[in-house]
Amino acid sequence: MKNRKVIVKVPASTANLGPGFDTLGMALSLYAWIEMSESGTGETTFEYYGEGMDGLPRDKSNLLYKVAQLVFEEAGVRVPELTVSMYSDIPLTRGLGSSASAIIGALVAANALIGSPLSKEKLFKIATELEGHPDNVGASLFGGIVVSAWDGSEAHYARIEPHERLKTLVAIPAFELATEKARHALPSTLSMADAVFNVGRSSLLVAALAGGELGLIRHAMKDRLHQPYRAALIPGMAEILERAADFGALGAALSGAGPTLIAFVDAASGEKTALEEFLKSTLAKEGIEAETLWLSPCPHGAEVTVEEIAGGEGLSLPERIKGEVKA
Ligand code: HSE
Repeated sequence: MKNRKVIVKVPASTANLGPGFDTLGMALSLYAWIEMSESGTGETTFEYYGEGMDGLPRDKSNLLYKVAQLVFEEAGVRVPELTVSMYSDIPLTRGLGSSASAIIGALVAANALIGSPLSKEKLFKIATELEGHPDNVGASLFGGIVVSAWDGSEAHYARIEPHERLKTLVAIPAFELATEKARHALPSTLSMADAVFNVGRSSLLVAALAGGELGLIRHAMKDRLHQPYRAALIPGMAEILERAADFGALGAALSGAGPTLIAFVDAASGEKTALEEFLKSTLAKEGIEAETLWLSPCPHGAEVTVEEIAGGEGLSLPERIKGEVKA
């Protein structure tokens, strides 16, 4: 292990997909990379590359460090000092699973560093415990569309291969929204009618995605469990969810806890520019600047490369992934 370096590429994710609150997730073609090795100097160090990461801790209070130590503890090995680098294109606190991707990256990297003694299922369980829900971590770990259930101790999941014509357009507002705040907006009870509404839509959505029935998505991507309560936190959201289909979207949802909005689009749609303009102008009307990105569902989960370090440092993380990053 002393001479080993691992690099893990982890996809971003969108959670809920509308009705599947804390249950459905899909991996997206936007990535974070984590590089980890046992420290050769006897000291733990962190390097961050990417926007908004300057403020992250560089000592052992760091999430990546703590997550890696959970793996070592579970496997019964000691690796107290690490060299960690991270580059991320996934914007922080915007509803694209940045914290889930960091957790999965650190779990997978730490596990690979010690010869992968823990199964993916075990890593999924640890990640779900850390996040409190399985939707983002499941998508980042397994890739594709992941349907999962968590009862506080067991996590079960099934994967769906995304349809080849399924694309997404995300509008990422220029403000952050903490998941905790967005969860705080939710009621503690729901009416039976709303519960039935969501069971129906979420089930229909899973069946439509599994069966490649893209035309059903617009009827299925509706929600009465969380989006109506979160709408006040994201001005323009209600109009976007209501009218996106008029601009050619297959359906639209709040991405995770927001504030990012996501539209599902048929790759063959001729209305892509109109949809993008609609999303941007609706948010602009509310005084919200937003970046739009066309992303594909990512069919792969976290991918690991293990390298033997034969003396010297080798390439830095940004040098190594140049050409793969967004910027
Ligand atoms: N399912 C979660 C939520 C995803 O909507 O709060 C956010 O991380």
